[in-house]
Amino acid sequence: MARVRPMTGDDVAPAQEVWDEAFTTMRSSYGLPAAVGAGSAERTRQRIRHLLTTDAGGSWVAEDDDGKVMGLAQALVRDDLWVLSLLGVATRGQDRGTGKALLDAALGYGREVANGLILCSRDPRAARRYVRAGFHLNPSVSAWGTVDRRRLPAAPGVRPGTPDDHDFVAELDRSLRHGAHGPDLDHLLTEGCRLWVLEGRGYALARGAKPVFMAAEDEEAARDLLWACLAQARSDDVVEVSWMTAHQQWAADVALDAGLELHPAGPVMTRDMPVPCLYLPSGAYG
Ligand SMILES: CC(C)(COP(=O)(O)OP(=O)(O)OC[C@H]1O[C@@H](n2cnc3c(N)ncnc32)[C@H](O)[C@@H]1OP(=O)(O)O)[C@@H](O)C(=O)NCCC(=O)NCCS
Repeated sequence: MARVRPMTGDDVAPAQEVWDEAFTTMRSSYGLPAAVGAGSAERTRQRIRHLLTTDAGGSWVAEDDDGKVMGLAQALVRDDLWVLSLLGVATRGQDRGTGKALLDAALGYGREVANGLILCSRDPRAARRYVRAGFHLNPSVSAWGTVDRRRLPAAPGVRPGTPDDHDFVAELDRSLRHGAHGPDLDHLLTEGCRLWVLEGRGYALARGAKPVFMAAEDEEAARDLLWACLAQARSDDVVEVSWMTAHQQWAADVALDAGLELHPAGPVMTRDMPVPCLYLPSGAYG
């Protein structure tokens, strides 16, 4: 049985290797395109290091009998929201209860926080773990493909965001999802993501044309912001819009209008909160 212990800085590189192996194997088992959703190894290490800094109490590894890292979990707490950012076990060690032990450790962090969010992968093991842990299952789809630029409408009023917009972004996040992104927004901006703002009505944080997360006050603003993200696509870029549930029909409409394909995705798992309708979540940061 693997031993679960708190993550340290020395675990970042082996934890990233475990995650990449588990995640890549899982995606290829379900015929998911490897290029969509996969980041560079260095970006994954930065993500793990960032959360180890902000949420050391939510960062755990599992090691085997030889002391080798074979699993990881990272949860974050922002205001009144708990999010599971990473849960992975090396394929050689799956189905032996290590995922459950890691999830239990991550759930122990921020135990007092009622609202919870997990963007579940396609792995049926993951869905089983989260439902068994009491999370509510919301089926979802992801869209991907190349954007048909002939269909791009004007998205008037969407402008690049500035640091002056961060308070607005935080307030909107708190009202829709119980927590601001705080240090995660700062982290993503330093690694090249861009903030787009529709004055007083919404924002989108995008990596190229992919919305990482976005929120709006009204559906028209949400649509305009998603279009503004997709407009950043070059003709051969494969773009993904992730985790749209039945509550985010507006996003599926935009994705279809842009020429993307809808595919089944892992469910959006919630605890003590509804799926926020005018919000698209990030797998990493909720
Ligand atoms: C999801 C993951 C972390 C679980 O780790 P694990 O160590 O395999 O998990 P556990 O052994 O604790 O639990 C696996 C459960 O799935 C069950 N299971 C195994 N194969 C299954 C299948 N094909 N369908 C449904 N359930 C399955 C097991 O029986 C076990 O349930 P039980 O404990 O109630 O019997 C791991 O499989 C993984 O890294 N997957 C790839 C990365 C990923 O998708 N991570 C989730 C991100 S949201």
